Amino acid sequence: MTKNIAIIRGDCIGPEIMAEAIGVLDAVAKKFGHTFKYTDAPMGGEAIDKFGDPLPGSSLDTCLSSDSVLLSAVGGPKWDNVPKEQRPERGLLRLRAGMGLYANLRPAKIFPELREASPLKAEITNKGIDFVIVRELIGGAYFGEHTTVQTGGELYAQDIMGYSEHEIERIARVAFETARKRRKCVCSVDKANVLDSSKLWRKTVCRVAEEYPDVQLSHMYVDNCAMQIVKDPSQFDVIVTENLFGDILSDEASMITGSIGTIPSSSLGEGTRGLYEPIHGSAPDIAGKNLADPVGMILSAAMMLRFSFDMAREADAIEAAVDAVLREGCRTADDMSAGCTQLGCREMGEAIRAHI
Ligand code: IPM
Ligand code: MG
Repeated sequence: MTKNIAIIRGDCIGPEIMAEAIGVLDAVAKKFGHTFKYTDAPMGGEAIDKFGDPLPGSSLDTCLSSDSVLLSAVGGPKWDNVPKEQRPERGLLRLRAGMGLYANLRPAKIFPELREASPLKAEITNKGIDFVIVRELIGGAYFGEHTTVQTGGELYAQDIMGYSEHEIERIARVAFETARKRRKCVCSVDKANVLDSSKLWRKTVCRVAEEYPDVQLSHMYVDNCAMQIVKDPSQFDVIVTENLFGDILSDEASMITGSIGTIPSSSLGEGTRGLYEPIHGSAPDIAGKNLADPVGMILSAAMMLRFSFDMAREADAIEAAVDAVLREGCRTADDMSAGCTQLGCREMGEAIRAHI
């Protein structure tokens, strides 16, 4: 098969980890007889520097005409003081909206090898951690009206968090469909004791649940969920939640698995074209030092093969290669523990490639 992949190399550690993911994809292409064609689509800081716009039209076009998009991470201190509309993050949000990617899947799965690196006690991690957060990605406070006004001699700022029924329905369906392929439990997370948008969220999720009698639905307030994720993460299978809650809970969920550096994510809308990215940021402090962990990026490429290209065997091969390398005790600085061998970003990529 031939697939066109739009590549967003990103900022800071972005290009380093992307190079390793492309290396792994090339190894997969060779082994399985595919052709992957890569086209750069600058977005974020790189695009601000080159085009004065975090998401130039040409990059959005490249993404929209590709079979799928691979992204590392964008942003960095260099662009911290540019006007709001030109921040690297705006490029990412506009890309998500421009591609209609409303469903963001963020798995939280602990590699047995990385249990040592989890900040949770062994008695908790021993019960296993294997859940996925289905985060609504193009609604809520991120995309509501933002205003800052001068009133009564001081500034007042607000961000509207709103959801319409169809936005909740479609993300609920993704959660139920995802659960059907797993342990068939959905926990819908909201703040329905306070927020109107959450009340509508809960009512709508309950309505959609009637179409999925085989899936067990529960509800949890977001503050309680944040607590339960560290108290007993083994209770969760699929968590579905709105954009801002999902942003916060997914950082928490990634950390308990040992390293935020190893977690991939997929963002999908209608159709098979998706955006795949590790959930970590661009880590300016370690950029250019060959210290970054390429695993989250490489597993994002695996997710792309599985979900967008229907290449399950190829995705399995990448995941097995990552497992093997971790079993051998290879680690990058972020998830290093006693008795393991610390590798640089390039060497980690190379070790994974060698197992394909
Ligand atoms: C994420 C990030 C983004 C978000 C930022 C960079 C805008 O934190 O993908 O989780 O909040 O969605
Ligand atoms: Mg985030």
